Amino acid sequence: VRGERTFPLTALIADDALGAVTASGRSARALAGELRARGVSVVEASSAADAESVILSEPGLQAVLLDWSLAGGDGTHAAVRGLLARIRSRNARLPVFLMAERDDAPMLSVEVMSQADELVWTLEDTADFVAGRVLAAMRRYRERVLPPFTAALLEFARTYEYSWHTPGHTGGTAFLKSPAGRAFFEHFGERLLRSDLSVSVDGLGSLLDHAGPIGESERYAARVFGAQRSYSVTGGTSAANRIVLTACLAPGEVALCDRNCHTSVQQGLALSGAVPVWLRPTRNHLGLIGPVPPQRLGAEALREARAAHPLAAGAERASHAVLTNSTYDGLCCDAVRAAALLGAACDRVHFDEAWFAHARFHPLYRGRHAMHGEPGASPPGGPTLFATTSTHKLLAALSQASFIHVRDGRRAIEHQRFNEAFRMHATTSPQYAVIASNEVAAAMMEGPGGAVLTGEAIAEAVAFRKAVARLRAELAARGEWFFDTWGPEEVADPATGGRVPFAQAPEALLVSDPACWTLRPGDAWHGFAGLEGDWCLLDPIKVSVVCPGVGRDGGHEPLGIPAMLLTAWLEARAIVPEKTADYTVLFLFSIGVTKGKWGTLVNALLDFKEAFDRDAPLADELPALVAAHPGAYEGLGLRGLAERMHAQVSESRRLALQEAAFAELPRPVLSPREAHSRLVRGEVEAVPAGRLAGRVLAVGLVPYPPGIPLLAPGESAGSADGAHLAYLAALRDWDRRFPGFSHEVHGQWEEGGDAMTYCVTGVAG
Ligand SMILES: Cc1ncc(COP(=O)(O)O)c(C=O)c1O
Repeated sequence: VRGERTFPLTALIADDALGAVTASGRSARALAGELRARGVSVVEASSAADAESVILSEPGLQAVLLDWSLAGGDGTHAAVRGLLARIRSRNARLPVFLMAERDDAPMLSVEVMSQADELVWTLEDTADFVAGRVLAAMRRYRERVLPPFTAALLEFARTYEYSWHTPGHTGGTAFLKSPAGRAFFEHFGERLLRSDLSVSVDGLGSLLDHAGPIGESERYAARVFGAQRSYSVTGGTSAANRIVLTACLAPGEVALCDRNCHTSVQQGLALSGAVPVWLRPTRNHLGLIGPVPPQRLGAEALREARAAHPLAAGAERASHAVLTNSTYDGLCCDAVRAAALLGAACDRVHFDEAWFAHARFHPLYRGRHAMHGEPGASPPGGPTLFATTSTHKLLAALSQASFIHVRDGRRAIEHQRFNEAFRMHATTSPQYAVIASNEVAAAMMEGPGGAVLTGEAIAEAVAFRKAVARLRAELAARGEWFFDTWGPEEVADPATGGRVPFAQAPEALLVSDPACWTLRPGDAWHGFAGLEGDWCLLDPIKVSVVCPGVGRDGGHEPLGIPAMLLTAWLEARAIVPEKTADYTVLFLFSIGVTKGKWGTLVNALLDFKEAFDRDAPLADELPALVAAHPGAYEGLGLRGLAERMHAQVSESRRLALQEAAFAELPRPVLSPREAHSRLVRGEVEAVPAGRLAGRVLAVGLVPYPPGIPLLAPGESAGSADGAHLAYLAALRDWDRRFPGFSHEVHGQWEEGGDAMTYCVTGVAG
């Protein structure tokens, strides 16, 4: 049986007679004994509640045997019906055997029989015969449970080949020849190393040609993700974006690009030689970034943007459009409408859904992602659609696992042509475990599993949000501060027709009704101006914890805790958030989340508050920071440092400058490709931050947060008192005053006490 060692045979028998000295008890025990004799590990449950716990906690089960009279039968057999429904809501294929007696036959309805696979007449069939049938069903299930490439890989790993091909560690044996190698081998384990193979292994196919089991795996992923074609990418969505952009854009062509784009989009522009016309996204008072509003995607707005662009004005039409959906902060647009709007302006629309691979699998996100509905659902005559998704970010896959999904429409690029771009960014030695994990992530989401797993993540995020809201309300009643989560404060309850506070809203409503998470125009909580009705939805699993400090109007509140301080404190306690902005910290509730994990976070937030309120000494709270920078922090407390930090943000007007900097697109002087060519030719100078005025950037400058290009390659840095440079200066001032809390600005490096950037020589900005 495939993967027997990695996927041990396990079955559950749920029967409350298991321990009884009765005929049914004896036959259940005999059956368990026969299964064990065949190498099956049997889990016994003698109550419905116990059986349910096993079903929920043990996805490795390969058969379930349920006694029809479990929990006494009670005439309605509600316990067994409930268990059957529970199993089928999570797994459509798991073999389920109903153990019954002939007299029970009239009670077995069509519904019950369609949820169970086989009936076992316990007092008539022999235990040997039934065990044989169970084992055969388990084997069939195991054959089908693994997706194609993973099945082939596990099968291959069992052949114990002598490897005469790359990689040079040859199934791990090379590591055994040195102490460091041995430690590496022990840590990662032999199985991973024996699965690290090369294209020389014919039977596993080829990623570059999409042949064999790898090709099958991509076709399988296309079915699961609703694409016409899918490409498994082992260089992350960074590579996926570069592939799509280099496949779609030729030098000089115009691309409509969300300014809130990942650096890989900028790299794709430089590689293809295209000219970006930037689409400005929305931002709110906390600096959270939302989608580009629909008004900026209309044909007229796009035509005007193109006409006003010094390098794009001559182009008749844009060739490609790329939107980030959802944003890092979890805001996603109405993708159906966005595709229609952009599709009027160009023939190919690309959604960078690095943060949204789970969207297809839960009704909350209906219509909010590129591959919505079935492949035929995209309107005829519409644009060709691309989605690039980081399977590894929010689904269960190894880092670097990503997919490109395609639905052909206007100016479709046939596979062979597209594949030339794919090969340009792919390696000839891909990591097979990454490909397998990409496919396993798809397998986990196939069928009912996708909605269950995504629903559980949403439910945990909702529970965490509610817990924080309750604590906040309780503390507010005592006149005390607490953190908040960024999200709706109240929602419409269709049951009552009224609006209920978030903390009291029924969980069933919050996890299922998209209206709860839609940003309604005019609602104060979200702070986004100029929204249209249904345009934008907050993905509940991206939870921004809001620190005190910024009012709804963007003004400074007297009490403020810059988020970097909270993050440093949490990290010192081994709690590592995804992203830290000015006054928000982002936590991802991906499908691996557990109650224990978020419970610990709630406790940590309460502990922080306690330490903050008593101004606990930094020497106790952040000892490594004080040891590294005694001059800056010795003798200070947590609260004292927060006050200093908050005052600096206020005095430097950093938030206002950030808003102004991102509200104004810099003037493009050279195309990204031309700027990059100057860099390659060395026609650049390293310029200190204080002397950037009037210069043209050869590289992009991307401060984290918010992680979107402040200045893109080829753009003018503007004047010294312009918003872009003033904002950079405010960041720099903070970095100098608070060592250990520096901002990352991609595109800059430290030299001689200054932040340096490459600017193009001899071109005025
Ligand atoms: C919007 C967006 N696109 C693409 C990427 C790149 O994804 P990956 O890390 O899978 O290369 C990221 C990474 O953060 C991202 O935020």
